[in-house]
Amino acid sequence: MSSRGTFGSKLAIVLATAGSAVGLGNIWRFPFMTGQNGGAAFILVYFACILLLGIPGMVNEFLVGRHAQTNAARAYGQIGGRGWRTIGYLGILTSTIILGFYAVVAGWCLQYLYASIAGQLDGDPAYVVSYFQTFSSDPLKPCLWGVGFVLITHVVVAQGVEKGIERASKLLMPLLLILLLILVVASCMLPGAGKGIEFLLKPDFSKVSSGVFLEALGQAFFSLSLGTACLCTYASYFKRDTNLLRSATQIALLDSAIAILAGLMIFPAAFSVGVQPDSGPSLIFITLPNVFREAFSAMPVVGYVISILFYALLVFAALTSTISMHEIGTAFFHEELRLPRQRAAWILTVVCSVIAVFCSLSVGAYSNLQVFGMSLLDFCDFLTAQLMLPAGAFLTSILMGWFANRQLVKDEFTNGGTLRETFFKAWFFSIRYIVPLCIVLIFLHQFGVL
Ligand code: TRP
Repeated sequence: MSSRGTFGSKLAIVLATAGSAVGLGNIWRFPFMTGQNGGAAFILVYFACILLLGIPGMVNEFLVGRHAQTNAARAYGQIGGRGWRTIGYLGILTSTIILGFYAVVAGWCLQYLYASIAGQLDGDPAYVVSYFQTFSSDPLKPCLWGVGFVLITHVVVAQGVEKGIERASKLLMPLLLILLLILVVASCMLPGAGKGIEFLLKPDFSKVSSGVFLEALGQAFFSLSLGTACLCTYASYFKRDTNLLRSATQIALLDSAIAILAGLMIFPAAFSVGVQPDSGPSLIFITLPNVFREAFSAMPVVGYVISILFYALLVFAALTSTISMHEIGTAFFHEELRLPRQRAAWILTVVCSVIAVFCSLSVGAYSNLQVFGMSLLDFCDFLTAQLMLPAGAFLTSILMGWFANRQLVKDEFTNGGTLRETFFKAWFFSIRYIVPLCIVLIFLHQFGVL
């Protein structure tokens, strides 16, 4: 398939894939999950999941994608035979659902970007809470922002890999990191911030709920973009001499560092202004405006500028993630149905917009839109992060560890024998035994069997 694009340089590969990994998962989902699960103890389990299951799982998907250099479904079929295409289909379905609810939260970020430009977020903590409630229960506004976000994603994806995705990542990712560091310092200097730092760093095992293992696993996979063939699709644009293990490790470290920084930005501020750490998906939206106001109260202009910059970068981080979710389905419809890229992209855009509208209404104007006692948005989040992503990663491990041609897997891992074999053995052992076993144990634990 000579017409397929490839990423330009080694740095671009890492940046684009890191762009997929770093997003609302780190800055929105990680803090609220940590808050709901008791803080530091959750983080420990989360790190164990990243190291033990996440990195080997990433390499797994990279291998499939780079070997096959085609869309997710066909790639899995090439490695394991037609039946294994199912993993690809599952991945396309999962990422479509994720994009649907993710766009809602990304839309909230757009609203907050607009509101900080217009100076609407200025007020005491009670005002900031009511601002979020008024906005999110509006029947129209959040839907429009959400659908708008899907459309922006559409425009970038329809342009193709090189032009759209790569260029923007190079500039804006480092900027996000710098701003995050500034805000961590600002937040940690607020009065009473110490309690928040303690909450993050001192494990209190009595607060650990029974669901903590599956939640941490889901968060680790969600944050790494693992389990939906997303990494597989990106790896299909990698070059042959990319060191996959090294790239996976670098991305996982960067991703975790950003999550921790986001925690250090949110919790000291939350404790300082008395916002409950377990307030769920709205956590960052009711905490951050207070940081901007209080930490920079001596220099309101600086607070104003930083707040705009922050939401702009958050929108951008979300965009590099939504692009990657959109690309999975677009590449599939483009190559399998032989549709022009533009039209393939429209299929995804329409489906995701519909999901986004329903998810958005379920946390606002139509709160009776519930599934199993959860809002549709929370349900989609639970279904994908805690069930479908682990299932996808589990099946990929089984395929690569037990069914794929071992020589082929080894050649792909070592780039045709040019990389050392030591790591291959450890990695292969881990995807054969550790990854599938741990995922099964965590499932059994969650559903009360263990
Ligand atoms: N990892 C992204 C984040 O942390 C979200 C994401 C992008 C994702 N692509 C994905 C999650 C594919 C699961 C699957 O925000």
